[in-house]
Amino acid sequence: MYQEIDLDRIDMSSGPPAGEPARQYYFMAKCREWVREFEQRNGRCPLAYIQTFGCQMNSRDSEKLLGILEQAGFKKGETENADFVLYNTCTVRENANLKVYGRLGYLNSLKRKNPHMIIALCGCMMQEQEVVARLQKSYRFVDIIFGTHNIFRLAELLYRRLQGEKQVAEIWEDTSQVVEELPVDRKYPFKSGVNIMFGCNNFCSYCIVPYVRGRERSRRPEDIIDEIKRLVADGVVEVMLLGQNVNSYGKTLTEPLSFAKLLKRVEQIDGLERIRFMTSHPKDLSDELIAVMKDSKKICRHLHLPLQSGSSRILRQMNRRYTKEQYLELVDRLRAAVPDIALTTDIIVGFPGETEEDFLETLDVVRKVRYDSAFTFLYSRRTGTPAAAMEEQVPGEVMKDRFDRLLTEVQTMAAEVVRRDEKTVKPVLAEELDTHEPGYLTGRLESNTVVHFKGDASMIGKIVNVSLDEAKGFYFMGSLRE
Ligand code: SAH
Ligand code: SF4
Ligand code: F3S
Repeated sequence: MYQEIDLDRIDMSSGPPAGEPARQYYFMAKCREWVREFEQRNGRCPLAYIQTFGCQMNSRDSEKLLGILEQAGFKKGETENADFVLYNTCTVRENANLKVYGRLGYLNSLKRKNPHMIIALCGCMMQEQEVVARLQKSYRFVDIIFGTHNIFRLAELLYRRLQGEKQVAEIWEDTSQVVEELPVDRKYPFKSGVNIMFGCNNFCSYCIVPYVRGRERSRRPEDIIDEIKRLVADGVVEVMLLGQNVNSYGKTLTEPLSFAKLLKRVEQIDGLERIRFMTSHPKDLSDELIAVMKDSKKICRHLHLPLQSGSSRILRQMNRRYTKEQYLELVDRLRAAVPDIALTTDIIVGFPGETEEDFLETLDVVRKVRYDSAFTFLYSRRTGTPAAAMEEQVPGEVMKDRFDRLLTEVQTMAAEVVRRDEKTVKPVLAEELDTHEPGYLTGRLESNTVVHFKGDASMIGKIVNVSLDEAKGFYFMGSLRE
């Protein structure tokens, strides 16, 4: 079971221990000595600000990074006007990548005004050699560079910088290590992501994730269950189990365990009310999982099932390893077992070689499945992936035209689908004060659809019954019921 390490009781006289996580706690204590000196000089705590780009994996990583910094004595800052600024980057599409370069110019201007500011970059972009080379050549004001595999080493890297080392850069190609038991600062007190696995082995031909997140490795079920129990004891009612392909969870463990069996164990945890998971690859979604979802009282009636394309020919080129027919048949099986399940998806338009006919197949699947919502993406060419080298890249204007048609279809359909719950009463997890309407709260249905309703801060983190009075496209206006 996890034991928080008391930094005051670490023996600092005999150098850093070799084993983890003890070594990192030693460096947190070292950084804290620096923080105390900072406080004496400046009469205030140093502020740390983290900006996260990308997916839930990155959001969860950022919570861990903030946990380490807070343990070292930093206070959480709300803007880039801070003493330590960290960008946790994403590179899944080119615009995610460009955003970071854009913001670096701004960071440099802040650093000119505050030369003591420490700027750090980590995450998926840093796993690309050309990115690091560019930073080392033209962005010397960046102080610390690390990747996705060594985020747990932040305290050690920061300490090296504090000792005077210039542009500390440490990138690991891959790792088989999963370091447990480091501090975490959660964004929400009542819900949390929980990593169940890291990396990806699927190599979809357009996707850079396997190159920047490394090979698939699963956490041990005991560690996952322990973490969730601790979260629940700390007020969490909803967990989101995270992995690039949760359906292949457990295959690399010394005692293999299926994802469905893991879910059954998570279900047993008293006090936990809602379970979500992301992402499910259609090729690995088992009948065992469908049966577990059917019988579960806690697993949300929602599944994010990325389609990517509705054309079997394009799916083959994408190396997705299912056909249009297999996907539709899977949806039928899911709906037969769990009739009220909400389905959401990801779709890419403009994959190399996509013809109008292929695109029409995608529209056909959208119409047949009737998604609650869909994330739609323009294909983005990622250097090093097989698709980047394919001939017949689709011209920009054709891509854009298809994208617009798909978006209209998805939005019209989602508005109709979401309306199915209008005038019913459903449980809603109250999540935050509504930023637009004073006196209102924002919450989520099991289907993940947003609901706005009158309420006060005391209800945040509770699951309450709400009458869904009016569907407004993607969200509901509701009223509290008791
Ligand atoms: N592991 C998840 C997806 C992670 S990336 C899965 O398999 O579904 C999130 C989404 O980004 C993907 O589902 C895909 O739709 C999109 N995406 C990934 N690479 C892309 C690229 N090169 N261009 C456009 N969209 C991409
Ligand atoms: Fe990328 Fe495919 Fe892995 Fe998802 S399953 S992260 S799309 S390679
Ligand atoms: Fe982006 Fe990395 Fe996630 S590339 S989508 S942050 S795994």
